[in-house]
Formats: sequence, C-alpha cells, structure tokens
Amino acid sequence: MSLPDIPSIRSRFPGLAGDWVFLENAGGSQVPRCVADAVHRYLTETYVQLGAGYARSRACTRTVEGAHEFAAVLAGTKDGVAVLGPSTTVLLNTLASCYAGVLEPGREIILARTGHEANLGCWKRLERQGCVIRWWDFDRKTFTLQPAGLQSLLNERTAIVALPHASNLLGHVVDLKEVCRLTHAVGAKVVADGVAFAPHRAVRFDEWGVDWYAWSAYKVYGPHMAVLVGRPDQMAALPGANHFFIPPGELAYKFEPGGANHEGCAGLLALGKHLAFLAGAPEDADCTRGTVEAAFARMQDLEKPLLARLLEYLGNKPGVRIIGPATAGDDRVGTVSFVHDRLPSREIAARVDRSRVALRHGHMYAYHLCEDLGLDPEDGVVRVSFVHYNTLGEIEELIGVLEGIL
Ligand SMILES: Cc1ncc(COP(=O)(O)O)c(C=O)c1O
Repeated sequence: MSLPDIPSIRSRFPGLAGDWVFLENAGGSQVPRCVADAVHRYLTETYVQLGAGYARSRACTRTVEGAHEFAAVLAGTKDGVAVLGPSTTVLLNTLASCYAGVLEPGREIILARTGHEANLGCWKRLERQGCVIRWWDFDRKTFTLQPAGLQSLLNERTAIVALPHASNLLGHVVDLKEVCRLTHAVGAKVVADGVAFAPHRAVRFDEWGVDWYAWSAYKVYGPHMAVLVGRPDQMAALPGANHFFIPPGELAYKFEPGGANHEGCAGLLALGKHLAFLAGAPEDADCTRGTVEAAFARMQDLEKPLLARLLEYLGNKPGVRIIGPATAGDDRVGTVSFVHDRLPSREIAARVDRSRVALRHGHMYAYHLCEDLGLDPEDGVVRVSFVHYNTLGEIEELIGVLEGIL
C-alpha cells in the first residue's frame, strides 16, 4: 500500500480547513476527524459509568482499558504501565508527591536547566522536606543538554534525574539512553518529560531503559489528556495517590485519582486509525507497534525538509539568533525558536499574527532557561513549531511574512 501524500493527510484534520497557517503545534496539535468522531460517538452512544455489570458499562470499561493498553503500545513498552491523566503537569505533580512520601532528607534530585516547569516545580517543592536540588546545565554554545554535564552531579545520594527528552524551546533531543545508563549506575531513576518529543518521533520506553516517561496526548493529535508510563516494579514500590482501598495491584489506577477522562480514552484509541493511515496500513486493524513506528518514521520524513528550510532562512538572516541547534539533524525536532537584535519577540509575534500565521512568543514555561540565556522571560523567544501535516508552502509563507518584518 502506498504512503499518503500531504493533501490527503491534511484533509483528515477538520481544523486545517481554513486559511490560517498553524505553526504553534508545540502548544497543541490539531486532531484528525477519526479522533473527534470517536469522542463524539462515545458521548452520544455509550456515555455510562464504568465498572458495572451491564453490557454498555462493560463496553465503556473496555474503552478505558483499551486506551491504557494502546498508550503502552505508543510508548514502545511490553511491561511498562500507562497512567492517564488530564495533563503532563498534573501527572508529574502526582508522581513527585508520591516520591515525597519515600524520599529521605539529603536525597538529591537533579533537574535540567532546559526543563519545562512541569518537570521542575513539582520536584523543587521537595526541597521543603530536605531533598537537595542540583542543577544540570546546558552547553551555551550548542544549546544542547549533554549527558557529560550530568555525570559530575551523580552520586550515591541521587534519587531522581528529571529532564526534558526534547526541549520545547531549543528543539534539541537529549541522548536519553545514555542519561539512563549513567543514572542507573548510581541507582537513581530517570523521569523524562517527552512532551516536546512525542509529536515527532516514536517513543521507545523499553529501548531507552527510562523509568518514567510522560507526554501530552493533546500535542500528539489526540484529546486533551496526558500519559505517564512507569515500570511496574517502581509503581508497586511507591505509595499511590488514589484512595486507600484501591487494590495495590491496580498499578495505573493507583496513580489516577479521579480516573481518566472516558471520552478522551475513546479519542486516544482512535488515534490508532490515523497512525495506520500514515503507515499505509489498514485503518480498521489493530494499531500494532510496527504501525506506530512506521507512522512516526513517515512523520519524521515529512518534517525534515521544513526544518532544513526554516533553519537555513533564519540562520542567514542578519539580526536573527536561533535559540537552539542551528542545523537539522536526528537530535533536533521541528520546534524552532529565535530572537532578533532589535525587535522584541512580542512585536514580531503580533505582526505575524496579522498575516493569519499562528505562532507564539514568550518563555514557553522554560523560565529558567530563558533567564540563563539572558532573555527577558516575558518577551522570551519567537517559536515556530510544525508537525507532519504542515507544508513547505506554509514555511515559505511564514518566511515571506518574516521578510516584511525583520
Ligand atoms: C516540554 C513540555 N513539558 C510539559 C508541558 C506541560 O504539558 P501539559 O500542558 O500537558 O501539562 C508542556 C506544555 O507545553 C511542554 O511543552
């Protein structure tokens, strides 16, 4: 079966029908019709509560269970357990509050300066109970977070290393496998924020050997919810965040106070159809791991020329400084930030808006990173972020608009 072209991919996204160019996908992606339809169908046809004995309730239970299983397939794990929640911020806060119950004073937590506040603030709060925060700095010349910078911080007191797998401002992808190798050598755990990575590439939880990995489904063509995958042994060892009578063997539910969004689960499951379409596989068959990998390989191929073109333009534009790696490689995703030596980011973004091109300026919740870069966090950077449904034509349109401004 042949792989779909860009017009047929775009035609599946109702939100792309107008005349706006959406280059703010790191903030949130569009959803394909199959996802929106599944949410609608769930609400209109099977909207009853889970866990009762009657047929419709059993069907709903199956949908929610199926979404958890599919999230594990998306994560590339055989044994890992997917927890579903309203957002990555909530899931990581829940996780940190569970660790708060077991970490003794003096245990160290290493935090990456490139992190989004969702994977920083919840750990910083553990200082109040005597945990020690150590900061892992990034390379100011290359705008990359290198495992070498982590090595000297690790010791037998280290409990947690929390990092962004990809920076949502720099676009750089960290060598997570190496981070896990170094961290595990001192017996500590890795909590990776995969939010800026997961819209672009297949997550490989087992292959990387990571302990906890989170991403936001609403940035990966799904409904507004998030996934946190953990290792069953660690999930069993930690006190949960849910009611005391939840059986300890219910590993996901243990970390899901209030449960997952049911109609969101229906939408998340339907994402399998879109991935199958991208992979050129039958849409009604089960979305296997092979399909997930083929779909994300296709996405990466589609994004590559856009990234190369945008970096080439910005890299050659006088007055512009790219805040992130300046060349397109496997360690970079299509999230491109820049500043101008004369124009505030706020003004550039406001002027681009008028041309019906959607992007964003600011600190992107990577507040410490902006401070370290000497940027006023409120003005921050201009960020352009694209995914597989964007086109080279849209990048050219943006470049035309920027030409008039810069
Ligand atoms: C890298 C990164 N981590 C975490 C988050 C927080 O995700 P959520 O909105 O699901 O809490 C974001 C959101 O923009 C992000 O970009």
